[in-house]
Amino acid sequence: MKRQNQSSVVEFILLGFSDFPELQGQLFGVFLVVYLVTLMGNAIIIVVISLEQSLHVPMYLFLLNLSVVDVSFSAVIMPEMLVVLATEKTSISFVSCFAQMYFVLFFGGTECFLLGAMAYDRFAAICCPLSYPVIMNKKVFMKLVIFSWVSGIMVATMQTSWVFSFPFCGPNEINHLFCETPPVLELACADTFMFEIYAFTGTILIIMVPFLLILLSYTRILFAILKMPLTTGRQKAFSTCASHLTSVTLFYGTASMTYLQPKSGYSPETKKLMSLAYTLLTPLLNPLIYSLRNSEMKRALVKLWRRKVDLHTLWLC
Ligand SMILES: *[C@@H]1O[C@H](CO)[C@@H](O)[C@H](O)[C@H]1NC(C)=O
Repeated sequence: MKRQNQSSVVEFILLGFSDFPELQGQLFGVFLVVYLVTLMGNAIIIVVISLEQSLHVPMYLFLLNLSVVDVSFSAVIMPEMLVVLATEKTSISFVSCFAQMYFVLFFGGTECFLLGAMAYDRFAAICCPLSYPVIMNKKVFMKLVIFSWVSGIMVATMQTSWVFSFPFCGPNEINHLFCETPPVLELACADTFMFEIYAFTGTILIIMVPFLLILLSYTRILFAILKMPLTTGRQKAFSTCASHLTSVTLFYGTASMTYLQPKSGYSPETKKLMSLAYTLLTPLLNPLIYSLRNSEMKRALVKLWRRKVDLHTLWLC
């Protein structure tokens, strides 16, 4: 009897921004545009890199993987978030909520490691150009890619099954935009102390360590750029580096504040805004700052466009 009582929750209610009903409609419009631009930007990168043989080198293959992760990450969160914004109170089944939590952790974790691997790749290419082909050979590249994906799966499996094992006896209202660990954990009616220790350690390994490696890589890259003669596009290299650093800091900073102490005392609204930074902004900005500013990418894009136009004329004749 007691046990049945303990797991009585069969669905959760996502509240969204229901404290600010007048805001919800406007946010719906903004988020819909963000979602469509994210899908389009990343789809362009996936198509261009897949079709253009000359881009089949580690740097672009990493970007291809990153775009696949970003599209999937958005697809797991955004459609459901739009529903939450469009309705007053959205119910989500217990199982859907945990499925969403699983994929958020899977793609989010993979993104953490991929961004780390990409910074290492750039560091090796810029700081050790002569030995770069050896440092980043096909085998090392594949290992880094596989490691990123497998780590994402492991993080998601471990964390979701642990949270899933807690009893949920009500209330069932999640004051958040989608199901992720910290807001769901608040509803668990059990002692979550051990889990919080795990979350703290896990976040340091999954977020802080890759972030520190990225900062280290970029510091070395910045020094290399400063040593370059003024004429060789120093300013462009500098601004590329700065934009990568900004987006990386935003992603890792907000994610670590959220996951380091899942039950920390930030207000629900602050937590929502921090989640939006890594779930909405990062997948939107990545294609813009990593690829579409890049001259090789632009050339490949123009080439593909021309080919398409050629096909058109052929068709018309
Ligand atoms: C990631 O990149 C590797 C190497 O090119 C590729 O084989 C793999 O299919 C990519 N994964 C995804 C999901 O795009």
